[in-house]
Amino acid sequence: MTKPFTGQVALVTGASSGIGRATAQAFAKGGAKVVVAARRPEQCEETVDLIRSAGGEAIFCKTDVAKPAEVKTMIETTIAGFGALNFLFNNAGVEGTTFTPIEDYAEDDWAQVIAINLTGVFLCTKYAMPHLVRTKGAIVNMASIAGLSGGRMGAAYYASKHGVVGLTKSTAIEYADKGVRVNAVAPAVIKTPMIERADLVGNDEIEQKMLSLHPLGRFGVPEEVANAVTWLCSEQASFVTGHTLPVDGGFLVP
Ligand SMILES: NC(=O)c1ccc[n+]([C@@H]2O[C@H](COP(=O)([O-])OP(=O)(O)OC[C@H]3O[C@@H](n4cnc5c(N)ncnc54)[C@H](O)[C@@H]3O)[C@@H](O)[C@H]2O)c1
Repeated sequence: MTKPFTGQVALVTGASSGIGRATAQAFAKGGAKVVVAARRPEQCEETVDLIRSAGGEAIFCKTDVAKPAEVKTMIETTIAGFGALNFLFNNAGVEGTTFTPIEDYAEDDWAQVIAINLTGVFLCTKYAMPHLVRTKGAIVNMASIAGLSGGRMGAAYYASKHGVVGLTKSTAIEYADKGVRVNAVAPAVIKTPMIERADLVGNDEIEQKMLSLHPLGRFGVPEEVANAVTWLCSEQASFVTGHTLPVDGGFLVP
């Protein structure tokens, strides 16, 4: 099997579970050395173990993406561990309060979602960029269908993901002449711990309604998003920048 990322280094935030873990594994399968960054050490070590037991190379750096000092350390750890950075997947995110109208939405919850989902992407991009310019690397940001369409009762999540789409465009334009490509992915419902916490599965009525919004008739799995992320980082996507790619089973089409 060809390994397109041999000799290259990928940093994945929020790699302790769900889409981040699957993408860290996909980068490693493609030959990349992987930095697994998130807040929960045990789950991150599990991701590292999964990669190593499949013959890949990975290290872990405990990071809260909303804290500038920790993000700086994450980038320093990457360079100290693997000597360079080629790919950054800004995946870490939280759903925040769900099923809550704006008038009841707590200000602290708003601030936390924006700090992690949007400011976190800015901070990781800021500190990684000098290294990505050096390698002419690529960034993929985690948006969502909630970054491309409106919805009810999750104000901060929708606002943060729309912000990610805008930040993706502006970063792509700003760094195009330096050879760094910047794109985003916009998944619909993907089976991860997040959708369980957000009560999108488990309640028959809500689950059936959500399923009916996916023309392919099912929810996605993390590996399907990982495939899109690794493609956007690969040479196959060498003329693609500034875009947000829906990975949504047709959700946004109607
Ligand atoms: N699952 C879906 O249906 C879906 C759809 C669209 C977008 N997304 C986005 O995908 C991303 C990953 O979510 P997931 O579904 O895999 O859920 P998840 O809860 O399994 O993963 C979220 C990851 O982000 C990490 N994280 C949270 N806050 C962090 C912080 N402050 N610093 C560092 N890491 C932090 C968590 O520890 C975890 O590793 C999120 O940005 C989410 O908004 C998910």
